[in-house]
Amino acid sequence: MKISSKELRQKWLAFYKSKGHTDIGAVSLIGDGSTGVMFNVAGMQPLMPYLLGKPHPAGRRLCNVQGCVRTVDIDSVGDASHFTFFEMMGNWSLGDYFKKEKTAWTFELLTEVFGLDRDKLCTTVFEGNASAPRDEETASLVIALGIKPEHVFYLPKKDNWWELEGTVGTPCGPDNEWFYPIRNADHPVFPDDYVEIGNDVYMQYRKTETGYEPLASKNVDTGFGFDRMLLFLNGLTDGYKTDLFSGAIARLEQLSGKSYDGDETARRAMRIIADHTRTAVMLIGDRDGILPSNVGAGYILRRIMRRAIRYCRQLGVSADAMSEVARVFIHEVYSEAYPLLAEKEDYILGEIEKEAERFDAMLVTGMKEFEKCVQGIARKNEFMKKSNPDYPDETVVGGKQAFRLFDTFGFPLELTEELAAERGLSVDREGFDAAFKEHREKSRVLAKGDAKGGLESHSEQATKYHTATHLLNAALKTVLSPDCNQKGSNITDERMRFDFNFPRPMTEAEIKAVEDLVNAKIAEDLPVVYREMSLEEARAEGFVGVFDSKYGEVVKTYAIGTFSKEMCGGPHVEHTGVLGHFRIVKEQSSSAGIRRIKAVLE
Ligand code: ALA
Repeated sequence: MKISSKELRQKWLAFYKSKGHTDIGAVSLIGDGSTGVMFNVAGMQPLMPYLLGKPHPAGRRLCNVQGCVRTVDIDSVGDASHFTFFEMMGNWSLGDYFKKEKTAWTFELLTEVFGLDRDKLCTTVFEGNASAPRDEETASLVIALGIKPEHVFYLPKKDNWWELEGTVGTPCGPDNEWFYPIRNADHPVFPDDYVEIGNDVYMQYRKTETGYEPLASKNVDTGFGFDRMLLFLNGLTDGYKTDLFSGAIARLEQLSGKSYDGDETARRAMRIIADHTRTAVMLIGDRDGILPSNVGAGYILRRIMRRAIRYCRQLGVSADAMSEVARVFIHEVYSEAYPLLAEKEDYILGEIEKEAERFDAMLVTGMKEFEKCVQGIARKNEFMKKSNPDYPDETVVGGKQAFRLFDTFGFPLELTEELAAERGLSVDREGFDAAFKEHREKSRVLAKGDAKGGLESHSEQATKYHTATHLLNAALKTVLSPDCNQKGSNITDERMRFDFNFPRPMTEAEIKAVEDLVNAKIAEDLPVVYREMSLEEARAEGFVGVFDSKYGEVVKTYAIGTFSKEMCGGPHVEHTGVLGHFRIVKEQSSSAGIRRIKAVLE
């Protein structure tokens, strides 16, 4: 190794600190809901308010290394260069320095600190359009620094403009991208032999509904891919050969008795298991950690984990391999940069094991079921061909069948799609959605109960407890921290249990304050208002909760006065006065970083 991941991390931060920047550390990987993005996908995301003009407590020059999760390319994971988790090395000017300083520092870092050859560096700038001018200023600055003029390219918006897609009100602008050859070192040709290593965004606009408006201050938003940089500073072309992955791959080689370099199929499986396990560790072990589920971000995590479990089978190792690999990431690779992972180790490994247990057994029967679908299609095609040899082949797995695999065997739709694609088949997504909706309608009717028969699925007391969890959730956010989020709850007729993220035990005074606040809201006899609305509306109105953004367009919301706003399936009481007196019986640890409250209504 020419440069280790630990050294790269330090060098980036040390360089920008030497230029007056403050290391602000990384934030949670889980999106805060403000932009509608489920995970943190770029280092600038948490800095949005500051890029729009709010003063940052740490000043106007900031830097960090920020973890990001992007799952759009999940199907490509398995090749040498795609990952679902990666880190971005960033630095920012908030209305401070601009192009002159930034181009000089990027150039100095790349050529002097990282020793790249200035004659080989290529860079691209924005060619201009109606929203923003051609970036001749950046072009002449980089040429003055020593980049060959024939290595500076003007490109259109699709290449040299950076914004968070699908958002409004967010900062954006033209960018200056930096490239270095990964092939044909002696005579590289741009762009074929080059890879992008990072970019400096000159963030001076704000996206509106219809276009762009200039921001009062000119910012710089720099992002260089940590994993990518590590790869090619070490002269590698396979991202799984860096020290971020070498331990995990070695472990998988040991467990499977197969060689990463020898066997193409095993290599792909090892990459998928390693990448997906790393992302699962990061998402579960995050300070606002999530768990696999069937909705929202939890569903994406479940997809990732189940895809890894499937590849464990393919590689010929048990799903426990994921825990083994997780340990390598927790202790060897990320122990310094993410110390919380080691603190939460038992919790993380426990959850990985639980998901493996849940799915591993179903996977075998589900695969048999899937094989039956494929055979059914083949038989049908054969039959039709008998009477008409030109009859076109059926190539689609039915939506109902895909739904059955989902509902009965826990196959995420995307897993079925991936299995189908391996057989040259596709899946009827619309049919799947229709089957899903039909099923949901049926469950709703069941949950409401048969009024005539007097069937009630929720007792009156449980309904009261359910409403009390909303008050408790809001009270914890008020008293402890807005970052406290519900991580689970369990209700019987006798008591409620409520899990939430918080790093330490609550003090007596805090427990009392939370109780008092909940009781005050009960005393106010606030109305509990139920409304259905689109997820977007709910988010815009500040409703919190884990929600199903994949299949459910419409969400159910409950507002308790203005004190609590949650997306939730209910049921709830109609006004808080009926709840009685709320008392916390116990506050204890549930697992690392997660507290548990037991409370009663008296
Ligand atoms: N925001 C820029 C990126 O994500 C730096 O590449």
